[in-house]
This record gives sequence, structure tokens and C-alpha cells, in this order.
Amino acid sequence: MIIEPRMRGFICLTAHPDGCAQNVKNQIEYVKSKGAINGPKKVLVIGASTGFGLASRITAAYGSGASTIGVFFEKAPSAGKTASPGWYNSAAFEKEAHAAGLYAKSINGDAFSKEIKAKTIELIKADLGQVDLVIYSLASPVRKHPDTEVLHRSTLKPIGHTYTNKTVDFHTGNVSEVSIEPATEEDIANTVAVMGGEDWAMWIDALKAENLLAEGATTVAYSYIGPALTEPVYRKGTIGRAKDDLEATAFTIGDKLKDINGKAYVSVNKALVTQASSAIPVIPLYISLLYKVMKAEGIHEGTIEQIQRLYADRLFTGNPVPVDEKGRIRIDDWEMRDDVQAKVAELWEQATTETLPAIGDLAGYRSDFLSLFGFEIDKVDYQKEANEVVEIEGLV
Ligand code: NAI
Ligand code: NA
Repeated sequence: MIIEPRMRGFICLTAHPDGCAQNVKNQIEYVKSKGAINGPKKVLVIGASTGFGLASRITAAYGSGASTIGVFFEKAPSAGKTASPGWYNSAAFEKEAHAAGLYAKSINGDAFSKEIKAKTIELIKADLGQVDLVIYSLASPVRKHPDTEVLHRSTLKPIGHTYTNKTVDFHTGNVSEVSIEPATEEDIANTVAVMGGEDWAMWIDALKAENLLAEGATTVAYSYIGPALTEPVYRKGTIGRAKDDLEATAFTIGDKLKDINGKAYVSVNKALVTQASSAIPVIPLYISLLYKVMKAEGIHEGTIEQIQRLYADRLFTGNPVPVDEKGRIRIDDWEMRDDVQAKVAELWEQATTETLPAIGDLAGYRSDFLSLFGFEIDKVDYQKEANEVVEIEGLV
């Protein structure tokens, strides 16, 4: 069928299989163009189908020839109904990886559940024996707790006071003021339950109990800090509490891995357009200004550039991994440069519906958003009938 974007609010209901496949190919080509990385060989990526997790899987496979197992939660296609983009991304990744002689298998289901952890453990035992890198890159609005069965919902709210600032509807370009009411204690606890470190620790405990982590294994989860501008809704809001918890968990996991000389890190990544970040108020306006400044400086990166740099320049250099005073890897270093942030703050003051098309990269934001779903990608013929029913070769 002919597949077009169908928008509802902040989400796109359709995805284009050929566009998603081209996105994956472009990421593979980028990693190959940067040369070999003396990196991991057997990798588990939890949250492997989109965003930073997909980039982590591609970088492992094509940077250091790694066998990869990807875990994700995506919607399968049916005749006349497209799959979610992560499904098509994973199908394309596996097809490419298999053609290149690389081991790649995938598990589609709720990573928070005991069942999916058990399934992953069986697969590692059967096929890889052990893993030497575990990437934890989940972004989810909900988590059903595996012990209590309570369904926790995360929120994106400030803590202690109402927060009012500018925001943009990136579909219309309309800049307006948004006020967000402060979180309750329950909101905070729920957000920490969903996006904090408990599930990461559960994964590592489960893998370690079965002796599936190789000597010297590394595990990495992703965090965000961002500027003072977005602090009330991000780093000092409910999601920030979850990130504090995630970052603290890196230390407890690190302690548990000492006997196998393993390491646990949090990498602080750059703000990027993903399905997760588009839903956060204020952030899309910040990102559109940030993109404008970083592109002008020639230092703009997407997920694949970020993760390729994380592996090549931070994690697998053969030298100790450089971290900040809180033990975190900083791959958001270019975003956080003083000159970049000073320019963004200046543009923030000027941003209105009228000025934004010129001072911000709204077009870049929109095009990145559509690309997440496989639309507006070069070399893809959107007039051509696409086959929406695509299988993932290595789905277990
Ligand atoms: P994303 O939405 O692109 O990817 C989320 C992944 O998690 C997908 O593979 C999805 O299938 C999987 N997933 C969600 N719920 C699941 C479940 N219950 N079971 C199994 N898989 C599930 O998100 P993105 O942006 O790549 O985020 C990944 C991490 O990076 C998050 O921790 C996020 O906070 C962090 N981060 C994101 C930044 C951004 O600007 N987008 C900046 C810095 C960090
Ligand atoms: Na991800």
C-alpha cells in the first residue's frame, strides 16, 4: 500500500518500512565510515529498536563485529496496518546483519517482566554463552512491577511549584506559554518506579545469577541533564528524580560487578528528537533552538553520531573511561558548551511564533520527527507501493 504519515497529537500512527530500513542503512554506513572500534563482541541491548538503543546495537555490530540480542516492545504489522517504527527498524537491522554474517536475534515483549528476562536468559545461554556489554536504553511511560503487579505511570512534572515557560507545537510552529502543575509525592514515586534504576539492577542481577556476564563486562544506561532553562520540567522534575535514581544505581551495580571486574556507567547524552522526548513540554522548543546553534557551529549530532563517539572515544579506547565528578560519562559535552548554551538562552528570550522559523530549526525538528517513522528520507520512493507486512528474521 501507499503509506503516508498520519498524525495524532505528538505521535504518528503510521510508519514506512522502506524509510525505516533506509534509516538503519544510513546508520550502518555511518558507523562503517568511522572505522573499527576495539569494542564488545557479545551484546545485549534492552530498548534496541529506536533512538539511542538502536544506535547502540548498530554501533556494536558494525563497529566491532558484535553478535547482538535486542529486546524491545513494538507493534507487529498486519495487512493494511503498519507496524511501529521500531519493528521495521529491527527487521531491517537483522536483515542487514545476517547478510553481513553477524549474529542478531530479537525478543519483542515487556522488558520489565520476569517472562521476558527469562526468555532473554535462555537465548543468551543457548546462543552466546555470555555477554560482554549490556546497554539499558528503555524509555517507557508505564511499568508493571514484576513483584507487586502494580502499574506505575511516569509523569513529566515540576516538583514543589507550578512551572510556566514557553513551548512550541512543532507541527504548527505555534509558540505559547505552558503551565505545568507540580507533581504529587505519588507522581514522583511512580516516575522513579518506571524510569529509575530498579529494572536495570533487576536485569543485571538476573544475568549475573546465571553467570551470563563475561569477565570485565560493561553495562551502560542513558541519562540526560540539560540546561537551567529546562531544569524545572526535566532535571529537577519527576523525570530528573528518576534519572538521579538511575545514576545512583550505576554505583550499586558497579559494586556487584567488582568480582568479575565489571563496570556500570551512566552516559549523559545530548537532547535529540525521539518519540520519548517529543512528548515533553518545553523540550521541543529547546531542541529546535539547540539544533540551530549546533548546526551553525558544525557540531550537531544525531543518535548514531552520539553513540559511535561514546563507544570510540569514551568506552573502548583502551584507557580508563573519563567521567565527571559524579562518575558519569559526558557525551553531552558539545550541547553543554558555554558558548552553545549562551546562544540558546539568548534565542530563547527572542522566541515567538513569528521569530522561531528564522531563529530556530523548526524544519529540522519536524523532519527528524518524521524520519523517526520512516518519512521524508532521501532515496525512498514514497509513491511506490510498500509492503507493510515485514517479518523480523531473528525474532525469538
Ligand atoms: P526511544 O523511545 O527511542 O526508545 C525506547 C526503547 O525502549 C524502544 O526500543 C522501545 O521499544 C523500548 N521499550 C519501551 N518500553 C519497553 C518495554 N516495556 N519493554 C521492552 N522495551 C521497551 O527512546 P530514547 O530517546 O532512545 O531513550 C532511551 C534512553 O535515553 C532513555 O533512558 C532516555 O531518557 C535517554 N535519553 C534520551 C535523550 C533524548 O533527548 N531523547 C537524551 C538523553 C538521554
Ligand atoms: Na532506545
